[in-house]
Amino acid sequence: MNILIFGATSGIGQALAKQYANQGHRVAITGRRQEKLDEISAQLPGSYLPIRHDIRNTEQTDSVIMQAHQTFGSIDLIIVNAGIGKFNLELDWPVCESVIKTNVIGVTKALTAGYNYFRQQHQGHLVNISSVASLLGGAANPTYNASKAYQANFMEALWIKASKSKKNKISVTDIRPGFVDTKLAQGETFWKADVETAARQIIKAIQKKKKIAYITKRWALVAWAIKRMPKFVLKKI
Ligand SMILES: NC(=O)c1ccc[n+]([C@@H]2O[C@H](COP(=O)([O-])OP(=O)(O)OC[C@H]3O[C@@H](n4cnc5c(N)ncnc54)[C@H](OP(=O)(O)O)[C@@H]3O)[C@@H](O)[C@H]2O)c1
Repeated sequence: MNILIFGATSGIGQALAKQYANQGHRVAITGRRQEKLDEISAQLPGSYLPIRHDIRNTEQTDSVIMQAHQTFGSIDLIIVNAGIGKFNLELDWPVCESVIKTNVIGVTKALTAGYNYFRQQHQGHLVNISSVASLLGGAANPTYNASKAYQANFMEALWIKASKSKKNKISVTDIRPGFVDTKLAQGETFWKADVETAARQIIKAIQKKKKIAYITKRWALVAWAIKRMPKFVLKKI
């Protein structure tokens, strides 16, 4: 398989890239940190295509996809994983703005560019890494939870669109992790999965072409409870 992962220089994206490369797939990896792209690529020469890209630079996103397409001949799977989340109890505007620019504007551009690429190819699998946080407001970082709710809703729209198409075979998967042990989840202590386990479960869910998958699986229980939770409980979280 030929794979493109937006945001693969650390955490979940890096673990996904490594597991796919170790399985013999070719993986284009992006991120802002050139040294991390070089370090990962050096571990299995010939398996990776490193592309330096800031997902907020939306005018460059199509050319990232074209670069992977020209190198591999085609792309079978695009995973949009790039994301940031910072505590923002004070509702500091620069933090709000950077989360929106990355998780909403940058991610939407990558998802639409990926979907349109697959439309031209008449097939492909588009995956986004949203979050269990998409299911509820988060007082500690309101724009993070809101951006993930936006992503989950947007992925549902793409899933409906893909399901309706008769001439295209495009699969759409929304991955919703709970806590995974990465830099982004520092400080979180509840049911934190190690990154390799999370990546393994994500790869399985992608293989099964799931519409939505909670990672690790037990977070599906939390999701179930959140959807039924009386609003007064939210004040205690
Ligand atoms: N860890 C968790 O508990 C958890 C839970 C639910 C959902 N998630 C989601 O999972 C995804 C990955 O997070 P993680 O936990 O693995 O965090 P991480 O270790 O901080 O990794 C984030 C990745 O996103 C990339 N990225 C961030 N901003 C970018 C930008 N402007 N342009 C391009 N790439 C950018 C980073 O690359 P560069 O820094 O090199 O640009 C890095 O590769 C995120 O979307 C996050 O919201 C994580």
